Parts: sequence; C-alpha cells; structure tokens
Amino acid sequence: MVDFEDRVAIVTGAGGGLGKEHALLLAARGAAVVVNDVGGSVSGEGSSQSAADAVVGEIKAAGGEAVAEHSSVADPAGGAAIVQRALDVYGRIDIVINNAGILRDKSFTNLEPDHLHPVLDVHLRGAFYVSRPAFAFMKENGYGRILFTTSGSGLMGNFGQSNYGAAKMGLIGLMNVLKVEGAKYGINVNAVAPIAHTRMTEGLFGGIVDMFAASQVAPAVAYLVSDECELNGEIWSVGGGSVSRFFIGLTEGYFKHPNDGELTIEDIAAHVRDVRSEIDYMVPFSSQDEFTKLAPRLST
Ligand code: NAI
Repeated sequence: MVDFEDRVAIVTGAGGGLGKEHALLLAARGAAVVVNDVGGSVSGEGSSQSAADAVVGEIKAAGGEAVAEHSSVADPAGGAAIVQRALDVYGRIDIVINNAGILRDKSFTNLEPDHLHPVLDVHLRGAFYVSRPAFAFMKENGYGRILFTTSGSGLMGNFGQSNYGAAKMGLIGLMNVLKVEGAKYGINVNAVAPIAHTRMTEGLFGGIVDMFAASQVAPAVAYLVSDECELNGEIWSVGGGSVSRFFIGLTEGYFKHPNDGELTIEDIAAHVRDVRSEIDYMVPFSSQDEFTKLAPRLST
C-alpha cells in the first residue's frame, strides 16, 4: 500500500481537471495538500478562488487535510507565496506537482506575443517560480519529489502548439538538470505526459471519451512522487489505462577516429544510416554519460 502519511504536497492548477485528481488521490492516501489554483479560463483569463476552495472542501469532507492557495504560478511572487503557504501551514514540503497550464493555440505564422508569453509564463517560468523555492527547502531537508507535466505536443509535435510544445519541452530540460542537481539530496524529478479528458481537451476523444478520465492519470503521478519511487528523470506517458515511458536515446552512430582524418561531408552522406540506426543506442542519464561513451573510442 503506497501512502503519503506525514508528507506535504503542493499541486498547482489543482482546482479542476488533472490537478484536482492528483490532489484528491494524494490527500486520500494521507498527504496534506496545498491546492493551488488561480481559477481562470483555459486561455488564462480571469481568476476565481472557488475552484481551489471547492477541492479543499471535497478533501476535508472525505477526512483529508488540505489548504487552498490562489496565487498565479506565472510570476515569482506567486511561486514564492505558494511555497510559503506550505511552510506556514504544514512546516515542510515533500512533493511538488507542477500541473497548472493554459492554452493559446495558433499556427506558427499567426502566433503573436500575446499567444506566446502567457503560455511560457504559466508552464515554463511558472515551474521555475514554484519549484525553485521548494527545491531549496528539499535540499536542506534531504528529501523531495518534483513532477513536471509535459505533453506529447512538445515530445512529438502537434499542429498549432509551437508555444505550448516549446514550453512543455522546456520542462524536460529543467527536469534533466534538476534530476542531476537534486540526486545527492534525495530529490527525484520526473515528468508525466498525460492524455485525459478535461476542459482543455474538450471534444478531442469522440466516442471513447469515457476511457480518458483524469483519474486514470493520477495513480501514475502519485507513484512517481511517492517514497517508493526511486526513479529520477523519467518521462511517462499516461492515459486511458496505459502507462509507457518516453526516453531520449543516443544512437551508437557513426565514428571516424580523428587520427584517420577529419570528418568530411561525404563521410556523413555515406553513413546517414549508421547515424540514425536504432539497433544500438543508449539512454544517457546526463551529459556526462555521452562523454563517457566517447572517451574510450578516442583513446584507442
Ligand atoms: P485544466 O484547464 O482543467 O487544468 C489546468 C488548471 O491550471 C486550471 O484549473 C487552471 O485554473 C490552472 N491554472 C492555469 N493558469 C494558472 C496559473 N497561472 N496559476 C495557477 N493555476 C493556473 O486542464 P488539464 O487538462 O487538467 O491540464 C493540467 C496540465 O496537464 C496542464 O499543464 C496541461 O498542459 C497538461 N496536459 C494535459 C493534457 C490532457 O490530455 N488533458 C495533455 C498534455 C498535457
């Protein structure tokens, strides 16, 4: 039985959709949860305290522990306030689930600054603003679990989401650095790429919409932020009952020893198949691993 007794979790954007399910599940398993939500529209307009308050009410009615926090993750003061709320009320932070998000889809040529900046602010900068002060506490405390919510739109691509896809892949870069920086302090950092029916994906699932309940994502998220989970730097695709892993692989590739002459354009043209072959590859943990692969080749 995986439980979160004595753990304190922050879930951003937890007033509805996926974040609400994450908060409900963690609270049901014993965590005290800071339910953050600014309560705006899908495109990030407006605000309301009622979304976060209702989720806190639901958790408390079920016998759980939670407190609402209504700041926007999209500015440093908001991020600091969310983290401070956890410290003021519960005295610690063990888990941060960066989930808050908005959409402002536009094809690339029609993308204006007003489509770009708010999306980067909420998803990417927001994850910095909340995670950084939390990370500082976790580092002191020698324990932490941080989760980022990425998306297939960035990992694979989706029409009209250059702003969103770039923000979501930016989170993978952030995860990769934090997994390295946090490892020796007991801080594990992972990411989830959900597939779920929420107001953000209204109309996308057609006749099989019932299969994609947001509650089908929460168990994998909860596992990734649990004590039991020692994984660090994983990206999981989760939805509709399916859980898979995305990874960044480095192919064995083509190698010409510099002592045998410099690489030429013709060498490359002749070996494109070797460069791209997926028969042999590694999944590096950090950029150090790539160097560890190269060094022996060069020393022969
Ligand atoms: P949602 O719109 O139901 O939930 C997003 C929540 O974030 C809302 O409650 C909203 O008020 C809150 N929020 C927005 N801006 C905020 C801010 N500045 N500060 C605090 N809270 C803020 O949508 P959903 O689907 O639950 O999305 C959750 C996360 O999952 C998002 O990051 C989204 O990009 C991501 N995602 C969702 C997918 C899906 O299939 N539903 C697919 C891939 C990623």
